[in-house]
Amino acid sequence: MANQSELIARLPKAELHLHIEGSLEPELMFELAERNQVEIPYNTVEEIRSAYAFSNLQEFLDIYYQGMAVLLVRQDYYDLTWAYIERCRSNNIVHCEIFFDPQAHTDRGIKFECIVQGIASALADALEKHAISSRLIMCFLRHLDEQSAFETLEHAQPYLHLLHGVGLDSSEQGHPPGDFARVFSAARALGLKAVAHAGEEGPPEYVYEALDKLKVDRIDHGNRAMEDGKLVARLAKEQMPLTVCPLSNFALKVVDDLARHPIPQMLNEGLLATLNSDDPAYFGGYLNENFMRLARHAELSDLDIITLVKNSFKAAFLPSEDIQARLADVDRLIGD
Ligand code: ADE
Ligand code: ZN
Repeated sequence: MANQSELIARLPKAELHLHIEGSLEPELMFELAERNQVEIPYNTVEEIRSAYAFSNLQEFLDIYYQGMAVLLVRQDYYDLTWAYIERCRSNNIVHCEIFFDPQAHTDRGIKFECIVQGIASALADALEKHAISSRLIMCFLRHLDEQSAFETLEHAQPYLHLLHGVGLDSSEQGHPPGDFARVFSAARALGLKAVAHAGEEGPPEYVYEALDKLKVDRIDHGNRAMEDGKLVARLAKEQMPLTVCPLSNFALKVVDDLARHPIPQMLNEGLLATLNSDDPAYFGGYLNENFMRLARHAELSDLDIITLVKNSFKAAFLPSEDIQARLADVDRLIGD
């Protein structure tokens, strides 16, 4: 393989941590604002991009929730999702697991069915036209209360066939996972998988809560778990997947330098870490860019890259025969 960029580009990958609203590029934001006659506080695409300078998660979230106000009708959700599917094609992503934040839309008066059907119909077309498989994960906003999360789960009841899991996102500090134990328990009883953002800005204790109180199948981010040796040993022993997002971590100052990103240490400790883009329209790059910039700055080896790609399939919510088939595809490709 000529170089690492070529290796990264050629490897088929899964992406497991992608907020569909965080893939809203400024160009599409402008187009939808015009189409829907929604006022946005920017005059040009460049103005939007220059507003994307964040010191922490909350500064990003304020802009992220404001941006999605241009999404109003089912076709908007379809177009947003289809634009991400085009990025999957150019990044060689063959399987994606997508988050959406229904409360950020229903609280503006958008119908749940319009959100979920718009996203799901684009995902169905992705499978049919490009053989890109997917899973849809509904996130609860942790800055809102438990009752609102229960109402959202209620809205989802007619659409459970389109959903594979529930997640927990938004402002982490001060909103521990345990606050949502009952709604996660109700979701798991419906057969849904469970994931939660934990240890992005919040302490290792939040990762323990996600494991023990929410009984998650994966941890989203998990960076701060590295502060607690016992927790690291447990995550390694249980092979609990971590969906880690390097460019997001750098943009939100979770890490101050990609050269000091915890991924190499996570791999050394035997953790099932994966790379993901989180909110690529806001953080400066899609999945291949996350691999390339991390590989360059944190000096990943080719073997590290292959391990991360294989982990993305091992951690996917796919039947085990599909996982084995995807791993065999990777082996065939690196055998060339
Ligand atoms: N919602 C969208 N992106 C997020 C992130 N990185 N952390 C928490 N909530 C989010
Ligand atoms: Zn996220």
